[in-house]
Amino acid sequence: MILVTGAGGFVGVHLLKRLSALGLPVRALIRSDADVGRLRRVARSLCRSAIADAASLKRAMQGVEQVIHLAGIFRESWKETFETAHQDGTRRLMEAAREAKVRHVVYVSTLGAAPDRIYPFVRSKWLGEGEVRSSGLPFTILRPSLLFGEGDHFLMPLSRLLRSSPYAIIPGCEPLRCQPLWVGDLVSCLVKTVESGVGKGEAIALAGPAQISYEGVVDLVQRELGSRRPKMLLPLSLAATLTLLLERVMGSPPLTTGVLDIWRLGAITSRDTVQKAYGFTPMPLSEGARYLLSSNGPPGRRGGRKERTMTPNRSI
Ligand SMILES: NC(=O)c1ccc[n+]([C@@H]2O[C@H](COP(=O)([O-])OP(=O)(O)OC[C@H]3O[C@@H](n4cnc5c(N)ncnc54)[C@H](OP(=O)(O)O)[C@@H]3O)[C@@H](O)[C@H]2O)c1
Repeated sequence: MILVTGAGGFVGVHLLKRLSALGLPVRALIRSDADVGRLRRVARSLCRSAIADAASLKRAMQGVEQVIHLAGIFRESWKETFETAHQDGTRRLMEAAREAKVRHVVYVSTLGAAPDRIYPFVRSKWLGEGEVRSSGLPFTILRPSLLFGEGDHFLMPLSRLLRSSPYAIIPGCEPLRCQPLWVGDLVSCLVKTVESGVGKGEAIALAGPAQISYEGVVDLVQRELGSRRPKMLLPLSLAATLTLLLERVMGSPPLTTGVLDIWRLGAITSRDTVQKAYGFTPMPLSEGARYLLSSNGPPGRRGGRKERTMTPNRSI
């Protein structure tokens, strides 16, 4: 049995669909009742528990051989900080996994995870990695760059903002860069990791084949949407303050502290990380954006991509 934490989130839903299509036994750990309906069809069993709840975690671990730990947050609240979610939460999960004699833990961290105090999100993911490493359990740490796909926290909020705002706001006067990865490609890496134990004891950076600036992403989205909003450069400190403010008042803010942290840290690496570790070339953002932002629907669902999606790496 594979236990997936954070199963109701963006990556979790894509992963569960793939694991279920492959017929692998999955238990989904969710924290909100709202996730029950849409996951019931794709998870063999559902378990409702916060990572902090030791008693229900213990029940969730029964019969579990592998854990894919996705649970995390992109913005802090009065209830939860990055550190409590990513470090304390991971520690509790590792304690429960050790007790259940789990044979492999896969932790989804982030590209750029580092002890740097300026960036609270990436620092907390680095602390979470530390909990996995010191657990004594066999592990693989995956460090993806920003992810795009249906329901993401990056491209879709940006396109919503560009549809509704009179300006295209670009945070940072120096170009912010990243190397976005398609969620379907991360899912392929996760599946290969649990099926064949790729990268045991390692931390593997995962990024798309192209590096792009924030302004480049805005240009790409504007092109796909056929819009020409004038650009407005916002100093990074102001963008960070505005982000903090918006994430306090909006249910789905255009940017969160966590996503801005990944941008700020320059979430880039070499272009062939996925090829080297998993033997396939991930989808470029330009291709994904065309499908996600057009009326054609998301990649992997129709037309030109359909043939390519027949390969195992390409199905959602
Ligand atoms: N998306 C990206 O671009 C990206 C990039 C790099 C790394 N990552 C990492 O990949 C992982 C998955 O990302 P995602 O985009 O799927 O995130 P997401 O959409 O925010 O989903 C995270 C899930 O974790 C759950 N969760 C958070 N704290 C929890 C807790 N204490 N106990 C139980 N469940 C908890 C959330 O539940 P609620 O809905 O109840 O909050 C949510 O269902 C995260 O660890 C993230 O840091 C993502």
